[in-house]
Amino acid sequence: MTSESRPHTPAPALLPGPVLLLGAPGVGKGTQAQFLMADFGIPQISTGDTLRDNIARGTDLGKAAKGLMDQGQLVPDDLVNDMVKARLSQSDVERGYILDGYPRTLGQAEWLDAHLVSAAVETLPLVAINIRVDEQELLRRITGRRICPVCKTIYNIYSKPPKKEGVCDNDGTPLQHRSDDTEEAFTERMKAYNSLTAPVIEHYSHQGRFREVDGARSVEEVTASIESALRELRQAGE
Ligand code: AP5
Repeated sequence: MTSESRPHTPAPALLPGPVLLLGAPGVGKGTQAQFLMADFGIPQISTGDTLRDNIARGTDLGKAAKGLMDQGQLVPDDLVNDMVKARLSQSDVERGYILDGYPRTLGQAEWLDAHLVSAAVETLPLVAINIRVDEQELLRRITGRRICPVCKTIYNIYSKPPKKEGVCDNDGTPLQHRSDDTEEAFTERMKAYNSLTAPVIEHYSHQGRFREVDGARSVEEVTASIESALRELRQAGE
């Protein structure tokens, strides 16, 4: 999805700092991250996208991750933490960044909390936004999702179809269906989410700098809720 494709009200000036986007598979983290990037001028760091990029390039990390991802299981913490550490050492994260799909286990959350303290790169504390959508709708979103491999625009055959079936509106590239976007893999991803990622949401909710938003509304309404939650959290200095 591009920033040109929606009615857009620019977010008022706000130093966003580090933002965690949490939520189950298909809840809309990637979709929302693309808008937040455009609105706040900060990068999206998606561990899922980085892993898929490693798979496409045939790296050792990609080879280790592929089978696990196709089965809907999580990649081991140490591999993912190393990836995030390398990305957070780049200079474009200074004003903030959106972590999409990370942390996903308590081990990753504890590693991240400790890393940010020890790396001393943060001007602002982490804030966490959890997006909620019921499981039936998640399955529909996951099985209907199509992605442009070139510009990364996210489509959905039900809620956001491309103008021409199977082809990206922006660059004409054939759209792809993720290999883990099957009903079978979704069931496994939900099991991993419920057992390993739900405690991460609990962890950040207890830290206070946390909001939940209802993701079962239009994309624009969800974006507005997230941006409003971010403003509240930063103004409160929580
Ligand atoms: P990852 O790529 O992170 O997948 P995920 O968390 O399962 O989330 P998704 O990308 O499926 O969904 P999303 O929330 O971004 O939704 P989207 O915006 O696309 O991870 C994949 C795998 O990599 C994992 O299973 C694991 O193996 C591995 N991995 C990644 N991170 C890891 C980590 N930290 N530790 C260990 N392993 C890790 O939207 C979905 C669809 O819904 C789209 O079609 C979109 O158009 C549509 N949509 C979005 N919003 C709305 C709306 N408001 N209304 C209607 N439709 C909407």
